[in-house]
Amino acid sequence: MSEKRVFFAGGAGFIASHTIPILLERGYSIRIFDNMRRGDRARTERFIAESGGRVELVEKDVTNGGPVREHMAGCTHVIHFPTMSINKSVADPHESVYLNMIGSNNVFAAAADEGVRRLVFASTASVYGNPAKLPMHEDDELAPLTPYCISKRACEDLLGFYQRERGLSWNALRFFNVYGPGQRVEAYYTSVINHFLQRLRAGEPPVIDGKGEQSMDFVHVHDIARAVVAALESERGCSPINIGTGVDTSVATLATLLIDAVGVDVEPRFNPRDVLVARRAADIGRAREMLGWEPTITVEQGMADLVAATEPVAVGSV
Ligand SMILES: NC(=O)c1ccc[n+]([C@@H]2O[C@H](COP(=O)([O-])OP(=O)(O)OC[C@H]3O[C@@H](n4cnc5c(N)ncnc54)[C@H](O)[C@@H]3O)[C@@H](O)[C@H]2O)c1
Repeated sequence: MSEKRVFFAGGAGFIASHTIPILLERGYSIRIFDNMRRGDRARTERFIAESGGRVELVEKDVTNGGPVREHMAGCTHVIHFPTMSINKSVADPHESVYLNMIGSNNVFAAAADEGVRRLVFASTASVYGNPAKLPMHEDDELAPLTPYCISKRACEDLLGFYQRERGLSWNALRFFNVYGPGQRVEAYYTSVINHFLQRLRAGEPPVIDGKGEQSMDFVHVHDIARAVVAALESERGCSPINIGTGVDTSVATLATLLIDAVGVDVEPRFNPRDVLVARRAADIGRAREMLGWEPTITVEQGMADLVAATEPVAVGSV
């Protein structure tokens, strides 16, 4: 058995698909634990076929504690990703809270019992709610607004419980607006990319509500994947850590970036109306300090790469 084995819950999804190659490079074996509800089966089978026995798939659900415990055996590290989208969590709070709380508790408890070296949990920038100031710092007040974000925040607290009671070592990464190849089209925060691209590819200008001042901190999925592995291996743990670029990109700027990347001769069209100007940018000082992590892909580069990808962009997730 490999010395380093990751129990990767939600390991058949979007961010996982960029994380697995880095884990393999670093000598881990990977036990993907995924119910395949949103997982990519073809991609997962490719990883299994090409890894020389170092990637396996356990097709089970994290809300069932027995299988989680059984398959945690022999694992040295844990990554915990299963979730449902923000939109779905509003429509079905029960299912979202059940998955995020019961499923997460099953994984956290089994990881603590197994005595794993580190657990990395995917949290979200949405735990801050609408920030009072930028950049957003980990010690700012949290005001999560939806069942998805409320339960993500509760999971961070639950990790603190397993740390105090059972010595679990963890990091909770607060991902900002993740984008990149392989994402699904129904992304909540990043769907604007897909929307603009679809129009540009049809030769139509992007349509922006208001002045396009609302902004996001777009962070490329490759940099997210690097952060996940850094958080798995860092000397220091037991903290929430922002993972973004620190740059807030307005919707108007995004439209210009995508127009340039697609190379069409159009101007964005503004739809004058009052919009709530929400802005986002991460303070990434803690990620630098604790993980030695830096983003490497600028939003200009990342958007250009996305457009250059042969397939029409599929943006998605939560
Ligand atoms: N993508 C983003 O923009 C973003 C932003 C902030 C936080 N996050 C967090 O990052 C994590 C990964 O996101 P992603 O975009 O890769 O999501 P994804 O939906 O692509 O992957 C999640 C995986 O979990 C699996 N899964 C769902 N329910 C399960 C269950 N009950 N048991 C076992 N497996 C289950 C799905 O089949 C899927 O393969 C999530 O926790 C998400 O909340 C993502």
